[in-house]
Amino acid sequence: MEVKKRILTGDRPTGQLHIGHYFGSLQSRAKLQDEYEEYIEIANVQALTDNFDNPGKVRENIEELLCDYYAAGIDFNKATIFIQSEVPAIHEIFIYLANFATVQQIQHNPTIKTEMAQKGMEVSTPLGFFIYPIHQAADILCVNADLVPVGKDQAPMIEDTRVLARKFNSTYKTDILHQPQALFGVEANVPGIDGNAKMGKSLNNGIYLADTEEELRKKVFKVYTDPARIHATDPGKIEGNVAFTYLDLFDKDIEEVEAMKERYRNGTIKDVEVKERLFEVMNEFLTPIRERRREAEGMKEELMKKALEGSVKVAGIATGVAGQMKEAMKLKF
Ligand code: TRP
Repeated sequence: MEVKKRILTGDRPTGQLHIGHYFGSLQSRAKLQDEYEEYIEIANVQALTDNFDNPGKVRENIEELLCDYYAAGIDFNKATIFIQSEVPAIHEIFIYLANFATVQQIQHNPTIKTEMAQKGMEVSTPLGFFIYPIHQAADILCVNADLVPVGKDQAPMIEDTRVLARKFNSTYKTDILHQPQALFGVEANVPGIDGNAKMGKSLNNGIYLADTEEELRKKVFKVYTDPARIHATDPGKIEGNVAFTYLDLFDKDIEEVEAMKERYRNGTIKDVEVKERLFEVMNEFLTPIRERRREAEGMKEELMKKALEGSVKVAGIATGVAGQMKEAMKLKF
């Protein structure tokens, strides 16, 4: 029997998932679940690194994530979904990897830099937060994943993981740790409805998989277009125009979209016509997802049971990897 390659990816349970998550990672997960042995981690320990004073939020959002996974077409009988805190060997692997990371390397990680600035952590950086890239490397290596489908913002984390695996292997003259590859989604970044480069809960600019048709319509009609365009006869800009960024993502009729862009540039189409079209294609795309999400809401107990079973399976695999690492480090008695 052919051995399937492994995928691992995960999310922090801190809020519902939006279309940025969908195009960045969820879509690839649903597509690849047959071809690969797929593991999806609910990173609740990592979520606490910047939410340690709000454990209730992290706990509640586990169920939301499970519903979003189901909605996105992830098959709980194919993919193994697990909860990070149920796999203590991840923490063990983390401490072994930590010898191969430096403070300077983490300080130069662009994602960490941005997050530290956003959270005002430059003066006083909680250690738990600071070390999370190494802990995330342990997530990935605990099943020896080959492929990690993520959004572009996670690229430095995957690169760090590769470096750590390589250093561990070369130091102990072994090949037990795999160097994972990142797999980026179709669109590197999906902007928020307000034109902000990032979509997020705190920015209040997201379109969520759980949004109702009514919510979707409201948001689509608020989408940032070209602020300099006042009349439909004014020539408009496509660059930075979120309505067209979304049309490129959702509208399968590429020629029609190109024709609309041309009319927009020439000032022969109204914003509202563009938005009507956008609502139509987005709604068509999101309706089956929304319906599956509704179905999932009635299955929360069952989905949680699957995640706990998945956690037992991953705990077994991770204990095996930690054991191999111990052996390589002469820590085995
Ligand atoms: N840091 C990721 C995020 O914020 C979530 C995550 C945790 C993850 N562990 C992972 C992603 C392992 C990929 C692989 O989105």
